Amino acid sequence: MKFYEDFEKIRLKPNHEVSQWYMEMHDLKKQVNYIYKFANVEKILFLGDGDGISILLALFAYKKSNNIKEIYVFDIDERELNLYRKLANEYKIENKIKFMTISYNVIDKTPIQFKNYFDYFYINPPYCYETTPAGLGFFFCLKDVRS
Ligand SMILES: C[S@@+](CC[C@H](N)C(=O)[O-])C[C@H]1O[C@@H](n2cnc3c(N)ncnc32)[C@H](O)[C@@H]1O
Repeated sequence: MKFYEDFEKIRLKPNHEVSQWYMEMHDLKKQVNYIYKFANVEKILFLGDGDGISILLALFAYKKSNNIKEIYVFDIDERELNLYRKLANEYKIENKIKFMTISYNVIDKTPIQFKNYFDYFYINPPYCYETTPAGLGFFFCLKDVRS
């Protein structure tokens, strides 16, 4: 589909400092198809999404018949969130799906208004990569080990 080609052209450079190591496009397509099969629900949360699976799912689901009404992305990377927002506006997906981007650090508490809100979640948070400088994911895991 055309939006995959468009997305590949404007994909940002992965920022290893926040544990971004992008998937190949062919894997990305497979993953979107896979999630679409299982996420035929109203409200979906993406917690960590450097690959853009949230916006690709929205673009994929937009023209199809399904139950998806809201997709939220929580991530620390403003560049990614801005890109997804821009695409959501360009493709006018808001006509069918509410697409929201939330700047969020996993170390912080989840905003209370989202408690019990979602029907399905996709989680791809920072992992324990040792980068130079060490990424947030790395610090997060160190903290876990020590406490
Ligand atoms: C492991 S990646 C997701 C997988 C994807 N293959 C990639 O390379 O982006 C981790 C995701 O979590 C986000 N992230 C990193 N540190 C974070 C933090 N402290 N709070 C919230 N999101 C964070 C990154 O921006 C990225 O989108």
